[in-house]
Amino acid sequence: MIPESFVQELLARIDIVDVVERYVPLRKSGANFSACCPFHSEKTPSFTVSPSKQFYHCFGCGAHGSAIGFLMQHAGIGFIEAVEDLASSAGMQVPHEERNATIRARKAPLTELMARAMHFYREQLKASPKAIDYLKNRGLTGEIAAKFALGYAPDGWQGLQQVFSDYSDPALVECGLVIVNEQGRRYDRFRDRVMFPILDQRGNVIGFGGRVIGEGEPKYLNSPETPLFEKGRELYGLPQARKAIQEADTVLVVEGYMDVVGLVQNGVGNVVATLGTAATDANVQKLLKQANRVVFCFDRDSAGDRAAWRAMEVSLSHLADNKTVEILQMPGNQDPDEFIREHGKEAFVQQTRSATRLSEFLLRELVKQTNPSTAEGRAMLVHAAKPLLQKMAAPILRVQLTKEIAQRAQVSQAEVEAQCGLKPLARSRYAPAQMKQRPVPSSIEYKLLQIVLHKPEWAARLPLELIDRERVEGEALSAIADAIDHGELPAGGFGLLLEFFRNTPYESLIAAIAANMVEEVDLGALETVFNDCVAHLRQATLTAEVERLNARANEGGLNQEEKRRLTELLAKKRPASTTGTSI
Ligand code: UTP
Ligand code: MN
Repeated sequence: MIPESFVQELLARIDIVDVVERYVPLRKSGANFSACCPFHSEKTPSFTVSPSKQFYHCFGCGAHGSAIGFLMQHAGIGFIEAVEDLASSAGMQVPHEERNATIRARKAPLTELMARAMHFYREQLKASPKAIDYLKNRGLTGEIAAKFALGYAPDGWQGLQQVFSDYSDPALVECGLVIVNEQGRRYDRFRDRVMFPILDQRGNVIGFGGRVIGEGEPKYLNSPETPLFEKGRELYGLPQARKAIQEADTVLVVEGYMDVVGLVQNGVGNVVATLGTAATDANVQKLLKQANRVVFCFDRDSAGDRAAWRAMEVSLSHLADNKTVEILQMPGNQDPDEFIREHGKEAFVQQTRSATRLSEFLLRELVKQTNPSTAEGRAMLVHAAKPLLQKMAAPILRVQLTKEIAQRAQVSQAEVEAQCGLKPLARSRYAPAQMKQRPVPSSIEYKLLQIVLHKPEWAARLPLELIDRERVEGEALSAIADAIDHGELPAGGFGLLLEFFRNTPYESLIAAIAANMVEEVDLGALETVFNDCVAHLRQATLTAEVERLNARANEGGLNQEEKRRLTELLAKKRPASTTGTSI
């Protein structure tokens, strides 16, 4: 793992206000900053960032944490990714080798423990008439129970002792199967529950959900976050659904374990569930990779309505013009499992066909919220649409929606675009005014471009302000980052990327690099080099500014602000990393 000392050093080096401000515009209020909370929808700001505490907190929804926590929650990424992101923005190097080796060494035995637990729970199900009856009463057959590897955690405090002779093994606690109480007593987390194993993409068991049999609290008990399991990233049922998703080119997303299993039982196979959390960026990204059409199904209650709005917001930034996201609000008070059991497959499929397109949902909800039958309401409509339109990644769909909003608000499309700060569609922004310098293969920009052509997504992590755009390679990098920023970068391989930059000044450069690209690269190593280049870039910029300030100091002294800046820069400046930057 990442050494704790590094995390401390990182948090000391960055400012949470900068981190949050990358995503949420903040307003100063007293010693703190405030904004409307990005984690739930609200009209008056209850989200606060404290620079002195380096902490954020929402009085509305209770979200809170450090800069790392904010990034994890906001971007839906894991701890390690968040640390990497912040470290690279601070020009710091995450201790990589140690990390990869340790993680691999640590994960394997945990995965093995989880697999053994799953087998144990499955065996226990066969021996428990009570659990079998429960599943049967919920309409499940043995075939489906087997497909999802359902099990039963027996009643009793240390059932797992039957499979783990070393019950005191700390790894059992680490993977969340065993709990240690304050007195140091160990006991099974899951007792007398029906067990739903959660599998990762490769089919490894990474967590469990356990349902109480009948009534009881909590209804579902889940594995805690462990080195194997990050709730916000995983989708329950994905390995089992993959084939059906491909065939239908559609993935249905439901809220619960039982919805997945119940739908599959009734012949609808292309279904997965988020794990008791609102949809995250990581979820939506993964979903849109599986199929071109994603349908979120929500129960029709206030929690479901909030979740639907949230899914819409998160989806906006991942849309593309060849993808659709739809929202299905289940009729009546039924969830998908109850609905299909009562009305059957055909009726359910019919429901999914009449799901609401994302843009339609957005418009309908906005109109509901703002009531454009008055002038004030129409002004509100544009105001409320602004952050949503800005997030929207599919350029053509965005134009359509802008038009509709303009029409309802009784203003012109151009006025909405101007009010919302939307850039027009034209591709021409990729064409710089004149031809830049010839590419220089030894420049940092050139190396970064080579790497980014392997992993275009990484361009989003580049400190663009530091990139030399006088170089054609620097210009190409920022064009790629820009395309990502606008959600226009085609996913699906290098060919599409080349096609996208056809007839731009970078076409030949990109093609030349492509011709020399080796097929197989070690992504871990590539990322190290990438981070290294970024660190070099920062270092070079820092050095230049320090030199400039030093020269000014020698000439005639610095003012207060410049002195502060110089001290800050000197504190930031560390010896540049020495790992190789060649690939
Ligand atoms: P629901 O409360 O809608 O339950 O929770 P359900 O899926 O209809 O379950 P059944 O049909 O009563 O068995 C939806 C999801 O929210 C999470 C679980 O992932 C659940 O599947 N949840 C719910 C929990 O994690 N804990 C709880 O106590 C309740
Ligand atoms: Mn249910």
